[in-house]
Amino acid sequence: MAKITKLNHVAIAVNDVDGSLGFWRDAMGLAVDHIEDVPSQKAVVAFIPVGDSEVELVKPTSEDTGVAKFLAERGGGMHHLCFEVDDIDAMLVQLKEKGVRLINETPQVLPGRKMAFVHPKSTGGVLVELYQLTTEA
Ligand code: CO
Repeated sequence: MAKITKLNHVAIAVNDVDGSLGFWRDAMGLAVDHIEDVPSQKAVVAFIPVGDSEVELVKPTSEDTGVAKFLAERGGGMHHLCFEVDDIDAMLVQLKEKGVRLINETPQVLPGRKMAFVHPKSTGGVLVELYQLTTEA
């Protein structure tokens, strides 16, 4: 069986990164590692380490993304949880065998990681992202 090794990040959809930092940085006292334009996600993301995991504040830069639609419908909030897994291909097979609905039937391959989303219909309403970290650039 594939093994989940850690919670990589919790992603929160925001309309305003700076405004959100008023809570996460200034009130909670968390340090922002960096804020980055991530064209592949059509978003600006603030990366906030919390121990071995991260909070990511995600502000869409385009209207045609899942996060933008989520923001329009719900006005922001927790968007997804991301777990690291040792073998994402095996995990996707395992989930399908259990009747779990997947958004990505096969992993997307990105620099440094393979990733896939699990449909919230199968998870009790939480969008779940899976990462397998890879060494190839
Ligand atoms: Co994510």
